[in-house]
Amino acid sequence: MAKIKTLTVIGTRPEAIKMAPLVKELEKNNDSIESYVCITAQHRQMLDQVLSLFKIEPDYDLNIMKDNQDLWSLTSNILLRMKDVYEEVKPDLVLVHGDTTTTLAASLSAFYAKIPVGHVEAGLRTFDKYYPFPEEINRVVTDAISSFYFAPTEGSKINLLNSGAKEESILVTGNTVIDSLLYTVENHKDKFNHLGLDNNLKTILLTSHRRENFGKPLENVCEAILDVVHNNPEVQVVFPVHLNPVVRKVVYEKLDGQERIHLIEPLDYAPFALLMQSSYLIITDSGGIQEEAPSLGKPVLVLREETERPEAVKHGTVKLVGTDKNKIIDSVQELLTNQEVYNKMSKSINPYGDGLASKRIVDFIKENKICKQNLKLF
Ligand code: UD1
Ligand code: UDP
Repeated sequence: MAKIKTLTVIGTRPEAIKMAPLVKELEKNNDSIESYVCITAQHRQMLDQVLSLFKIEPDYDLNIMKDNQDLWSLTSNILLRMKDVYEEVKPDLVLVHGDTTTTLAASLSAFYAKIPVGHVEAGLRTFDKYYPFPEEINRVVTDAISSFYFAPTEGSKINLLNSGAKEESILVTGNTVIDSLLYTVENHKDKFNHLGLDNNLKTILLTSHRRENFGKPLENVCEAILDVVHNNPEVQVVFPVHLNPVVRKVVYEKLDGQERIHLIEPLDYAPFALLMQSSYLIITDSGGIQEEAPSLGKPVLVLREETERPEAVKHGTVKLVGTDKNKIIDSVQELLTNQEVYNKMSKSINPYGDGLASKRIVDFIKENKICKQNLKLF
């Protein structure tokens, strides 16, 4: 029987982390699947870090990242450049992930080429067009284009059904990020980086990069952190600063050189995962970290007003605090001083997966719904 030809498209750090276990699983099944990988390199250094950890060598590298790139040029470049890749590879199925500009533009480009798309991490929604921006619309459009949906949770499946997706085109898989996380903390323990932190202090891990938090919201976050560190001598903050120049400008202006605040470069995934594991609490606006931290039993304060990942909020291990300075300070203070609240938030739970999501996706591609014959129907 002819092999199914898949083309996996990856643009940014989180897409690489979440697609790496799937790429590995596709490669393992080379008796029935011919797997190609294309990176748009919407991110460069932060993407390359992950590809090298997981030993992924892309077949195509569009190398499109520009400093301070805007959404218009990014979208149109990817849309156009993917056309050539699709024409050359002629895949039976394109696999995209999540909600980035790469996801949207690669899906649209595949749609123009009439190639079916499988959307990994499908069905996430805040139902607010501008939060997160532009990700909410990126995933809505990608879901409208896709023929197959790999939904991380039952909740995301319901969102897809409500938007008209057919039941048989949806598979609830868990999130592939948990595949990556569990593998990494188990197999790369030696990559722990002490980072010059003081073992006697409580470590707060902070990350922030969302476009809707640019400007005043991010300034508020930095001011809240200064306050927390100033009033709690037992606390240190470590902040791997995203390479986006807009983020770096604010963060370095506000926090550089402050006592017990460590601004560091983005970490490789393995030392970052181990740093999450060794932290007291995590403050972030990241999507992926909201999914990973509950598995590690770490409380998370989310710097957003709403989330497309409500499951861990419901379980009580993730709390939305937004970007109001006083609300952030009060929530951190509570976790530092109230052991009962801290214990409740640091239960280890796994609403986002069990580490087998990639295998489920590949089994579905191979055995069930996706075969060359079926693909012609989409
Ligand atoms: C992108 C995604 C966002 C995702 C985030 C993960 C879009 C619109 N945004 O946001 O959904 O949550 O990635 O981190 O798709 N840069 C570098 N080197 C890198 C990466 C970025 O220098 O390895 C700098 C460049 O100046 C680049 C800028 O950061 O122009 C912004 O990158 P971009 O991918 O457009 O946006 P992010 O904020 O990273
Ligand atoms: N991450 C990393 N190094 C860092 C910060 C984050 O490897 O210095 C990982 C993190 O564990 C998670 C992913 O990057 O898996 C999240 O990426 P990001 O926050 O950039 O994007 P989002 O998840 O918000 O789309």
